[in-house]
Amino acid sequence: MQWLSDIIFPMAKSKTALRTHYCGELRGEHIGQIVTIAGWVNRRRDHGGLIFIDLRDREGMVQAVFNPGVSSKAHSIATELRVEYVVRVKGKISPRPKGTENPKLATGEVELIVEEAELLNRAKTPPFYINEEVEVDESLRLKYRYLDLRRERMQRNLILRHRVVKFMRDFLDAKGFLEIETPVMIKSTPEGARDYLVPSRIYPGKFYALPQSPQQLKQLLMVAGYDRYFQIARCFRDEDLRADRQPEFTQLDLEMSFVDEEDVLNLMEELFTSLVETITPHLKIIKPFPRLSWNEVMEKYGSDKPDLRFGLEMSDLSDIFVGSEFGVFRTVLSEGGRIKGFAVPGCAGYTRSQLGELTDFVRSRGAKGLVTMALEGNPSEPVSALAPEKVRSVVAKFLKAEQIVEIARRLKAKAGDLLLIVADKPRVADSVLNSLRLEMGRRLNLADPSLLAFAFILDFPLFEWNEEEKRWDSMHHPFTSPHPEDIPLLDTEPGRVRARHYDFVCNGSEVSSGSIRIHNRELQERVFRILGYSKEETEAKFGGFLEALECGAPPHGGIAPGVDRFIMLLTGETNIRDVIAFPKNQNAVDLMFDSPSSVSPQQLKELHLKVDES
Ligand code: AMO
Ligand code: AMP
Repeated sequence: MQWLSDIIFPMAKSKTALRTHYCGELRGEHIGQIVTIAGWVNRRRDHGGLIFIDLRDREGMVQAVFNPGVSSKAHSIATELRVEYVVRVKGKISPRPKGTENPKLATGEVELIVEEAELLNRAKTPPFYINEEVEVDESLRLKYRYLDLRRERMQRNLILRHRVVKFMRDFLDAKGFLEIETPVMIKSTPEGARDYLVPSRIYPGKFYALPQSPQQLKQLLMVAGYDRYFQIARCFRDEDLRADRQPEFTQLDLEMSFVDEEDVLNLMEELFTSLVETITPHLKIIKPFPRLSWNEVMEKYGSDKPDLRFGLEMSDLSDIFVGSEFGVFRTVLSEGGRIKGFAVPGCAGYTRSQLGELTDFVRSRGAKGLVTMALEGNPSEPVSALAPEKVRSVVAKFLKAEQIVEIARRLKAKAGDLLLIVADKPRVADSVLNSLRLEMGRRLNLADPSLLAFAFILDFPLFEWNEEEKRWDSMHHPFTSPHPEDIPLLDTEPGRVRARHYDFVCNGSEVSSGSIRIHNRELQERVFRILGYSKEETEAKFGGFLEALECGAPPHGGIAPGVDRFIMLLTGETNIRDVIAFPKNQNAVDLMFDSPSSVSPQQLKELHLKVDES
């Protein structure tokens, strides 16, 4: 495996007081030169007379040959070397003897014949292999993160991350954006998660909040006239962690004035297209990015972040089952539920136990069950020829021939396919079928791993009903502007108001969220009212912000792509921790520093805090 930096990036500047070149930089063109390199011992092979060391640094590694005939002093140092020792060697770059070249190594044509060696530091035996790509317990990796980060895969990920962020900065700078830092100690912002709080020593009982995002600050920058702001912003959210969530993560946060949706979407499309084409040209993208409405993706994929690398699109079958004798479905429909399903091409031959696994899978995701319909017969026969006796399913006996044909038509199925159908409350049916669709995609290897299937999702509802608390929540955040045509519905049917909100998604992941914002006080206050904030609460939480809206706030909008999530997509990593240098584990613990940790009674006293451990 070549190092990423060798493939697409210019070689880093290598010369320092202690070395002339990076280990990974040496090539045929250096043959005959005397060079000095320094790095870590990746491997040592003692061939009696000759000792070979692979010396590694961040740019790669090169073979150094210690020949007692060239320098007995250097050779005796080499006998002491162990993996991860730090050494510096000086010598001549020579072609490797014929037949010993290593085409797997970028430096594999050459070797360094050591004339002088210096042991710079010893190293304890590492707790895991650094020089091999092997599965290592993640807790151990996180505890010894500095050793884990020495591994090639992590170095590749972080070098790529640097390039991506640099590309973003350069791109936005060229488009006239200003990078402006905003504070990390602010006041609580309503992004939907819990805040991390910082107690104030000077004001007993008062707290700063770490920003869940710089949302209000970037809007205030628009009020202040800094049109076209961006920031590589750290955000903090105390929420349940998942494979693509960290308590602190990074956004490319940006905001523009005097824009509409098109301006923001076009900018994003240009940025992400040019970025992928420049930095990861081996990955394919579909241009232009498809634009899909929220209703459409919820109908077809049961998710607002669909993986569009494959089909398996869903359809509603409720009307076909109305009046059916199948009790399970009748009950669900009478309780306001829905029946939805999708067809899996060529899987009619699934065995009982395979079908049982799928039923267990949906049950584990909250469904009550799964109806499977295996359409037996010849795929070349027309769908209209499908008869109940050709359908292997518990529901077959309840269906008329024309109903079977209609189900197959709606799911675009043919003989040979397997239909998967769930009946439940609309939200449950959607979420279960979404999981099942992704699972089938995985099992059948339907997603092309070299494709980044970006899409914009538009026309989100402004609010969603919170059944537990019996109130409306913002689907995104409360600063999102309603669609002007739907403003009259705000007080009558809030659930039907569309938002000027857009997401962009890629391969089943929400990469980014943004919107055109509310820029007048009256409308902003109306939205807060619908969200259930009292006048006093609104004033206490957002008084300053609302006043700013009265001071000449321009129309504005923006977006915030999640940098970590995007790097996951580019590197193909499935765990967000593998693209962050020093992440927290899935329990929000930093295992390297052992944080969070207790503080001294004196510190607590100064902060006017008492810990209740009950
Ligand atoms: P939102 O809350 O949707 O929007 O966040 C934007 C993007 O940030 C990423 N993201 C995360 N990444 C890792 N770990 C997390 N815990 C996490 N939470 C979010 C996602 C997401 O799409 N202020 C608005 C943006 C705006 O309206 O301009 C905001 O923060 O990729
Ligand atoms: P039961 O009546 O629970 O034995 O279910 C009969 C069949 O219907 C089984 O194959 C179940 O997996 C399936 N089933 C039960 N409930 C649902 C549901 N809500 N949606 C889809 N299939 C279901």
